[in-house]
Amino acid sequence: MTISKSFPKDLLETLTQFHQTHLVQWWESLNEQQQDELTSQIRLINFAQIQRLYSPEYSSKAEESPAEKAERATCPVNVIRLKDRAKPKTESAQTIQAGNQLLAEGKVGAILVAGGQGSRLGFQHPKGMYPAGPVKQTSLFQMLVEQLIARSRIAGNPICYFIMTSDATHDETIAYFKQHQNFGLQTDQLYFFKQGTMPAVDAHSGQILLEEQHRIAVSPDGHGGTLKALKNSGLFEVMQKKGIEYLYYHQVDNPTAIVCDPEFLGYHLQHQAEVSVKVVSKRTPDEKMGIVCDVDNQTQIIEYSDLPVHISEQVDQAGDLLHWAGSTAIHIFNRSFLEKIASNDDLLPFHQAKKKVPFLDSVGTQVSPTEPNAIKFERFIFDVLPVAKTVLVYEIDRFREFNPLKNADGPDSPQTVHTALCQIYSQWLQACGFEIPSGTAVEISPLIALDECELKTKISPDINLNSPIYLGE
Ligand code: UD1
Repeated sequence: MTISKSFPKDLLETLTQFHQTHLVQWWESLNEQQQDELTSQIRLINFAQIQRLYSPEYSSKAEESPAEKAERATCPVNVIRLKDRAKPKTESAQTIQAGNQLLAEGKVGAILVAGGQGSRLGFQHPKGMYPAGPVKQTSLFQMLVEQLIARSRIAGNPICYFIMTSDATHDETIAYFKQHQNFGLQTDQLYFFKQGTMPAVDAHSGQILLEEQHRIAVSPDGHGGTLKALKNSGLFEVMQKKGIEYLYYHQVDNPTAIVCDPEFLGYHLQHQAEVSVKVVSKRTPDEKMGIVCDVDNQTQIIEYSDLPVHISEQVDQAGDLLHWAGSTAIHIFNRSFLEKIASNDDLLPFHQAKKKVPFLDSVGTQVSPTEPNAIKFERFIFDVLPVAKTVLVYEIDRFREFNPLKNADGPDSPQTVHTALCQIYSQWLQACGFEIPSGTAVEISPLIALDECELKTKISPDINLNSPIYLGE
């Protein structure tokens, strides 16, 4: 193939070595800007890695598939069940105190993964911008940020927020925060970092697909990409300098997640865990949640898509689901542990998914496949679990803390989130002595209260509340 001189020679050698020269087959017809764009995309690709991931040996060498592992999965042992937490108040108060102290000492930072768009909801923006507040249509971003601000005020120390975006969400997210003055977060408290991408390859040939003549078909590298992105953006150093030792990780899709929950932090500390995970009891065997289990004495998460049906349906002697522990994707990680994993790019495995990926064929025709034609590669953050010395599994009340927004209708939809938020806030008001008819729309900003105890200190039972009820600063 003759390639214009302006295509970098070193890159051409790499493409030749890895049989990927088709990526520059339209080079001559591209304008300079397009040539630059293509060159920078090619520079970012680790061709040896792609070749290794595609090779049949990779799948067969990857010790065992998650489905095979699942055959030996048992219930996690190092677990704190919800029912066992009804302990003498002093013990739980000490745990909460320990967590609050970490926050007050500035040892905790929060990571929010927000690389996804709201497409499944029919919302063509970053999912964090979705207006989920029952009265003021407050966005998911604002609800979570206000929690962090409220928690910082209580701690007397600004907690840093590290927000991961993707190519698809970065610019709009930054503009959105700017437009709203970061919802009150100080600038030195807020860090955005963008996750990387992985090219999609043709399932039959292993050739990297072109989306356009000058553009490679890529997709986000999964939330496991958090580690590489934190490392490449220098944010681990920032955390170190600020004295942050614990990272409170959560997803943008759950507005009822308790951000930097002091009790959870306290348990993590007391159990000397490197990783802790909040779980809920799965409602049904086929609920789309990763399960937390032990395999050969190592606690891990097996994703729902990898879990064989007969395993997900296993029950114990009492008839309860054996694999009851659904991951809420709320974790605490020791910063030094994540940093160690991030320093070795091979530690976190890649998962492969066969998907329909539109592409440009060898004669330049745009193809929109009707069947899966390509392999996408992504990493999952929870694959760090088996490497951790101690993992603590901590059950929470799903009514209060796990109400994710995933689907346009049915379970985990705007309707279920609306209902859950109204019920939670109504219960707080009822605990303060108000009568709230069922079905009332209620929204309470975290800046007013993070829970019913705080609300009791802020609101007098004599005030008049008119429906719909909104309490905010
Ligand atoms: C996820 C978990 C599942 C867990 C459930 C709890 C995975 C693979 N599965 O399922 O085990 O029980 O949540 O709600 O995560 N994200 C990025 N970048 C990416 C991919 C995802 O930032 O490249 C973010 C999304 O913005 C979202 C979150 O990660 O906030 C979850 O991703 P999603 O693909 O929606 O996972 P689920 O199928 O909901």
